[in-house]
Amino acid sequence: MIEETFWHPVALSSDVASAPVAARLLERDLVLWRDGTGALQAWADQCPHRGARLSLGRVQDGRLECPYHGWQFEASGRCVQVPALPAFTPPATHCAHRFAAQEAHGLVWVRLAEGSEALPGFAAESDARLRKLNCGPYDVAASAPRIVENFLDMSHFGFVHEGWLGARSATAIDDYQVEATATGLRATGCKAWQPQSNLHSTAPAQVEYGYEVNAPYTAILTKVPEAATVAIDGYRESIALFICPLAPELSRVWFRLAVADFDSPDDKLRAFQHTIFTQDQPVLESQRPRRLPLDLRAELHTAADKASSAYRRHLKHLGITFGVC
Ligand code: FES
Ligand code: CO
Repeated sequence: MIEETFWHPVALSSDVASAPVAARLLERDLVLWRDGTGALQAWADQCPHRGARLSLGRVQDGRLECPYHGWQFEASGRCVQVPALPAFTPPATHCAHRFAAQEAHGLVWVRLAEGSEALPGFAAESDARLRKLNCGPYDVAASAPRIVENFLDMSHFGFVHEGWLGARSATAIDDYQVEATATGLRATGCKAWQPQSNLHSTAPAQVEYGYEVNAPYTAILTKVPEAATVAIDGYRESIALFICPLAPELSRVWFRLAVADFDSPDDKLRAFQHTIFTQDQPVLESQRPRRLPLDLRAELHTAADKASSAYRRHLKHLGITFGVC
């Protein structure tokens, strides 16, 4: 499955500490834990001995111990101790199934099969003028591609986010540009009239957006902030949408916020994003089919939807099958 060759977020880094943690990706159960060096490990959550869930076990001296018969596995995946046979040296074939794992953007990323080397980029991450924090997870009964498409969609603002990101009196979408990139697509020149475009808005403003899809289930929004909140010239506030496809119609969502506001408490910044996303969630969960139709004849499209149409073409071109129909 092509989806398995991409990196996907599976948990907040900070949630994986001294105890093993269960996670799920593309309908596979994972156990996440930290080895003796503090490095993140992501393995199949199934002991190779009798299939017990390793996430119910514990980490002991830098090894993962199975909850059932206490077999201990070192960071390489190899079983190094079978308590029932203290003198036995397990052969190399006694080993757990490891996946590639790394940490970035405050999240744990896992790749289930050989494939793309690079994580989805998020340029704001390295910009010291922007403060980064994560918001979520949200478990959403919708496919990951439906959620990406909602993130790219501006013509719902006046309805779903009325009084916040849009108004019924200003629903027209001016023409914008969409172009293909090496890793997905980019939409630029997207404009919206917003009553309350962020936490600090004191007056309605015309806000310009740019969007980028740079992995099948990742999108980045870059917003030109209102003049009143601009402290530094030339920077852009940015929000990344990172989705873990748990199942074809079930997703776990995080937002990575990159904002110029270093003063507000984390909870206050999260509260704004929470308000917006919980307005989206019931509509997203109501969409049928829950999977995104890649046949462009299956739903109706207008010029205002050209970013989402381009996204559907892109997924089709990649050969994505998970979360689409
Ligand atoms: Fe894991 Fe037996 S099932 S040690
Ligand atoms: Co929305």
